[in-house]
Amino acid sequence: MTPEEFRRFGHELIDRIADYRARVYRGEFPVMARVEPGALRASLPQSPPEEPEPFSAVLEDLERLVLPACTHWQDPRFCAYFPSNSSLAAVLGDFASTGLAQLGLNWQASPALTELEELTVDWLRQMMGLSAAWKGVIQDTASAATLVALICARERATRYGAVRGGLQQAERPLAVYASTQAHSSVEKAALLAGFGRENLRLIDVDEQFALRPDALEEAIATDLRSGVQPCAVVATVGTTATTALDPIAEVARIARAHGLWLHVDAAMAGSAMLLPECRWMWNGIEEADSLVVNPHKWLGASFDCSTYFVRDPQHLVRVMSSNPSYLRTDADAVVTNFRDWGIPLGRRFRALKLWFLIREQGVSGLQRRLRRDLAHARWLAEQVDAAPDWKRIAPVHLQTVCVLHTPPGLEGEALDAHTLAWLRRINESGAAYLTPAHLGDRWVVRVALGTEATEHEHVAGLWQLMQSVADATWKESRR
Ligand SMILES: Cc1ncc(COP(=O)(O)O)c(C=O)c1O
Repeated sequence: MTPEEFRRFGHELIDRIADYRARVYRGEFPVMARVEPGALRASLPQSPPEEPEPFSAVLEDLERLVLPACTHWQDPRFCAYFPSNSSLAAVLGDFASTGLAQLGLNWQASPALTELEELTVDWLRQMMGLSAAWKGVIQDTASAATLVALICARERATRYGAVRGGLQQAERPLAVYASTQAHSSVEKAALLAGFGRENLRLIDVDEQFALRPDALEEAIATDLRSGVQPCAVVATVGTTATTALDPIAEVARIARAHGLWLHVDAAMAGSAMLLPECRWMWNGIEEADSLVVNPHKWLGASFDCSTYFVRDPQHLVRVMSSNPSYLRTDADAVVTNFRDWGIPLGRRFRALKLWFLIREQGVSGLQRRLRRDLAHARWLAEQVDAAPDWKRIAPVHLQTVCVLHTPPGLEGEALDAHTLAWLRRINESGAAYLTPAHLGDRWVVRVALGTEATEHEHVAGLWQLMQSVADATWKESRR
């Protein structure tokens, strides 16, 4: 494709995306994709084209075949999983990133990529009210950042055992602690970092689904008595299911007393820290060793953009560095080489989308939207609390409201069946998309508000829909 052809098709593609977004914001598509598994694959040629195809045909197929198999995350009625806003300014940042085709193998390979990443991540640090003691890097996902954190914890505990015999040589097993509500990426990271499932302790939570510090202390004491070495604790600010807040200050006190690495997973809640009135939620954060915040969730930097902050970059670099001769440059002594701040060598110019987003919105624009979403969640929580046959299952700290429709006399597995039935009906209607979570021993429905286009009318419409569908489902089941 020549630059002139690129200009022509690029304009056409931007037009198509702009039209798509306008239609999505108007709610013209069923929110959850209505396709059977395998249908898209079956509708496409099973082997690659031998000869070049007209590019217009590719764009046509994008619209005709691919789009119907998409779930519309930017639809204002999308309340599933978590908001993953892809602000249009950030979309342009991603275009610029691939258009400029930068590859950050080291500073010299793209000074712009490195320095803009340093700058934007530091902007984000300031926006969240963190001290200058933190230094950050952009990773692909929170899962990768947590893996890096646990590897760093392991290396600190073993005094850089990886350069000797690794875990095979550890005198005692190392243990990792997290609450039962921690994201599955924590378990995955603990396994991948070599701790072993037997040495992962899932700590009980209180009635608000937050980690119980007394249970953490007890688990540490039990391990010490049985010759296991406590190594790291992962605390979550804003758990996935209910946005519960582990008490960071308390956990930090325990971590420090026992020499544990404290990693904080604020993948979701980190965005809310742009609001000074929310910062009590991570009180004690300055005591942590590492922190992950996902701007690719609620903030609006399109996926993937996960920021990993540490207080001791030298330790991170010592654990992660590789220094092959072909990557060495004269500038190495005075620049940052982000390949030493994580697992991959190559790095995309992800900072551009964050930089575009922050400049286009300004801190105040982002704060306005976050406050709007918090108000929507509070409003919905009030409606649920006031409705006779509805129950709110967890405190609403952020933008997620966990609910149950509880007609009189319905409990246990019958209640689960009812919950999943009305949820399925809503999703299949195309008028909203919600996802469930298993909490304690019950299924609940999570309403995760916060897409960029969600306004009060959408939340009010969703609440009406939930009530009418749940009532109808209940009545029909009794016929
Ligand atoms: C609290 C929390 N941590 C981690 C993750 C994983 O995020 P990622 O997809 O960036 O690995 C999620 C995603 O839902 C999350 O809610």
